[in-house]
Amino acid sequence: MDTTRIPDPTSADAGPLKIGSRVIPSRYNLSPLAGYTHLPFRRAIRELGGLGLATTDLVQATFLLSGNKRTQDLVATVPADQPMSVQIYGGQRTQLLKAARWLEDHGYQGIDLNMGCPMAKITGQGGGARLMCDESGACNLVGDLVNTVNVPVTVKMRLGWDRDQLTAPALAHEFEQLGVAAITIHGRTRQQGFHGSVDLDGIRAVVEAVEKIPVIGNGDVRTVVDAFHMRQYTGCAGVAIGRGALLDPWIFLRIERAEQQIADTDPTPDEQIHFLTRHFTMMHEQHGEYGCVMFRKFAAWYGDRLGIPDDLEDRLRRCSTLEEFHTLIPEIRERHGQRQQQFATALLKVPNGPNANW
Ligand SMILES: Cc1cc2nc3c(=O)[nH]c(=O)nc-3n(C[C@H](O)[C@H](O)[C@H](O)COP(=O)(O)O)c2cc1C
Repeated sequence: MDTTRIPDPTSADAGPLKIGSRVIPSRYNLSPLAGYTHLPFRRAIRELGGLGLATTDLVQATFLLSGNKRTQDLVATVPADQPMSVQIYGGQRTQLLKAARWLEDHGYQGIDLNMGCPMAKITGQGGGARLMCDESGACNLVGDLVNTVNVPVTVKMRLGWDRDQLTAPALAHEFEQLGVAAITIHGRTRQQGFHGSVDLDGIRAVVEAVEKIPVIGNGDVRTVVDAFHMRQYTGCAGVAIGRGALLDPWIFLRIERAEQQIADTDPTPDEQIHFLTRHFTMMHEQHGEYGCVMFRKFAAWYGDRLGIPDDLEDRLRRCSTLEEFHTLIPEIRERHGQRQQQFATALLKVPNGPNANW
């Protein structure tokens, strides 16, 4: 690889990432992907190495406060899941503030406010990206949030609602004054959804709008070169990787190796099977046999990645106990590579069509 693209290790933006009082060992974070970046996945990927901060899927403040079981599952964590933040959203200010206090009282060390979700069911209630349309409302909420808890508060947002309302730089500037510890910026507008490519100039405008706090760039990073390019082009202090980490969970390790100028190698089949085993086992550990059901949507991805024949992929999908899973492993070890790998395009569907209908 082209090592000239590695961010300068002597620059102010080298070394650990500081988010308020938190010191994050790597500048490459896992971007939340609701339905995918659950605790077992976060743990499995962290075990590979190189990962900085991980953030939970977005968590509805009201559900968190009502003790909703699925929401409690979303915020479940273990010491090996550190450093992590919980991402909250919701249209009601009081509930968001209470949820933040609840999280701090329960030992969580970072709270991330979702200001980027484009989904109508979330923006319709005034949450997600909709908050970006009301600068003073967003600032009031963020200021109250920062004053409610002692742990660092971060915000994840898009460039704005649409290209006529690119509010992210102005908001980032205000949020810093209000005490926000870091901003993650997905370089698309709400209107764009997941279409088009990420706007690095837009990310750079946010970097330039703040004085000191780290801005974490996000969007379309699939390779080590993409990650370094985003940092160099935009000056962002770190990068958050979502879909790229599903495509290649080894991406954080590859970045770490590149930074240390260590030769990169692809994971061996045994390493990939180990990852599958860790992921499945931890799903089962957290959710019991329901974990097997939750695992179904990953079967196609593992099937592609390991190149296992369709019948075996199907048995992985239908597997309903840990014992059954363990009987499949020797067969996967024996039959991997029999099917041509397609690398996981099927795994993750992004919302499509006019985004007013999402
Ligand atoms: C299926 C899916 C679920 C997502 N869930 C969340 C979420 O819960 N919270 C959030 O802030 N962003 C969420 N995002 C947005 C991603 O975190 C990220 O900003 C976006 O996918 C662009 O980055 P990427 O190209 O690295 O994936 C989601 C994206 C997808 C595709």
